[in-house]
Amino acid sequence: MLYSEKKEQKKKALSGIQPSGRPHIGNYFGAMKQFVDLQDEFDMYVFVAEYHALTSTQDKELLRSHIENLILDYLAIGLDPEKVCLYRQSDIPEIMELTWIFNCLVSVPWLERAHSFKDKSAKGIEASVGLFDYPVLMASDILLPGAEVVPVGKDQIQHVEMAREIARKFNHQYGETFLEPQEFIKESVALVPGTDGQKMSKSYGNTIPLFGTDKEIKKAIMGIVTDSKKPEEPKDPDECHVFALHKLITPEPQLSEIREGYEKGGLGYGESKKLLLENYLNFITPMRERRAYFEENPGIVRQILDEGGRRIKKEVAPKMAEVREKIGL
Ligand code: TRP
Repeated sequence: MLYSEKKEQKKKALSGIQPSGRPHIGNYFGAMKQFVDLQDEFDMYVFVAEYHALTSTQDKELLRSHIENLILDYLAIGLDPEKVCLYRQSDIPEIMELTWIFNCLVSVPWLERAHSFKDKSAKGIEASVGLFDYPVLMASDILLPGAEVVPVGKDQIQHVEMAREIARKFNHQYGETFLEPQEFIKESVALVPGTDGQKMSKSYGNTIPLFGTDKEIKKAIMGIVTDSKKPEEPKDPDECHVFALHKLITPEPQLSEIREGYEKGGLGYGESKKLLLENYLNFITPMRERRAYFEENPGIVRQILDEGGRRIKKEVAPKMAEVREKIGL
């Protein structure tokens, strides 16, 4: 079968996203796009991190709708189920079992170093045990299927490092069992500015929703903060948040023309925003169409997930049996 041939040549890459709301273009260019770009090069696994999302929501209907939406987003951005194993974290209860085993190997002070926990506590939020344990759960996600490469956004580097340390610790205690995974980050797309120029983040309220309506996207783009230079004045494109987004979305040769319009003067910020909006809508249209297709065909989506779930479940079973044996169960 093709898949087993593929497996020998290609490295295993794995990543997931928490279903915690609508993705914005920072999520897309910072992490999700890489999944699509890498699906030919790697033996790719992409999942919905449902249990991670439980650290931030206990609203049943909300969680359910976020899960469904993330699956549609994955398919809409172009993940091809023929190439990628798409699954839900909850397809593999072994992840929880392994998390407990890892929990007994790591110390509280070691886990206290995680940014995810430190940032929340610094804000005075009382962390749940689940939030505290977030990096260990993530290590199980990565280590159990034996991922070699983990494509993530910059904010997740520490978590992958922690997964490596857990692999080392387990291997040291019980003998060689887990691979040490490596994070994969595309430098060129890692930083996406929000409409106010800070890093695009839901918590700053400066996002452009990836699958927003025309109206929402227009409002966000027209609201991008600029200085007060007049259209005829020369401007530095690399200082402009509108141009930063052009660099991600606008194709050549138009991108160079816009750069010239900034440098020589003549292109105003309002005009630049209008072009960005137009190009954004062109860029998002095929993805919107794919999203609508899968939304109208829930049976196809269910089948994709069933297949992915079955495949991953079968693949991790031997490793879990090996772990149980090694720890003395
Ligand atoms: N923490 C990741 C995020 O918030 C989601 C995640 C959970 C993940 N488990 C993972 C990413 C394993 C990569 C590998 O985006």
